[in-house]
Amino acid sequence: MANNIIGRFERIKEHFEKEAAMFDKMFFKVMPRYEEMIEALAEAIPFSKKDKPRVIDLGCGTGNLTQKIISLYPKASVTCIDMTENMLKMAKAKLEGKHNVKFWLGDIRNFDYAGKYDAVVASMVLHHIDKKDKLKFYRKLYSALSKRGVFYVIDIFLSRDAHLQKLYMDKWKTFMKRNGLPMNKVNDMIARHKREDRPVALADELFIMRKAGFASAEVILKHYNFAAYGGKAT
Ligand SMILES: C[S@@+](CC[C@H](N)C(=O)[O-])C[C@H]1O[C@@H](n2cnc3c(N)ncnc32)[C@H](O)[C@@H]1O
Repeated sequence: MANNIIGRFERIKEHFEKEAAMFDKMFFKVMPRYEEMIEALAEAIPFSKKDKPRVIDLGCGTGNLTQKIISLYPKASVTCIDMTENMLKMAKAKLEGKHNVKFWLGDIRNFDYAGKYDAVVASMVLHHIDKKDKLKFYRKLYSALSKRGVFYVIDIFLSRDAHLQKLYMDKWKTFMKRNGLPMNKVNDMIARHKREDRPVALADELFIMRKAGFASAEVILKHYNFAAYGGKAT
């Protein structure tokens, strides 16, 4: 079992190492409403331009979410975490030196979350974590937050309804095809999603958040099986 877990994360890292250079050109063709979700999540963070929120971006990738957050909260200090060296390099090229951004290469499950943060955010990352491990992980995130702190996430979900689940997957395939991805690439994406990702039902995700201690858990934006959601610590 432990070997399986290690194997899956190694495979995920390997894919992102290879795809980092193309990520910014490709991802908006693969993920519906990517920019809109990023904007919704950043806007949900309850701070203003003059505030100095301390933020953690889990699985920051090439830094798109952090970039949006900084455009709205220019005095924010952000810790960008990613286990993929090439993704983090792209994020550094985009953000380093221009803003108050730190980078940490490693697994989000191993970061030392001691200290108080005002926002923990994650875009298209947490579906990699097994459902059975989420409660413990979310408790760790919860205790890293200040009283004003928030936890906001963008992710992909499952439906418990077979008809809706099929509809979601069909809509996702149509989206990728419309964006010019050849059929073999679309099928690869779906196969990889089934092999590597561990999505849960959105209702379960919100339940786990509340159980971890969050005072609220609310959906901000939803498009079929993609959603931006989250809540406040208190
Ligand atoms: C689909 S990309 C999303 C990147 C970025 N958040 C965005 O929305 O543009 C997923 C990223 O999460 C990172 N990742 C996945 N699992 C991780 C983990 N357990 N620890 C650290 N990074 C992880 C990958 O390396 C990759 O860069």
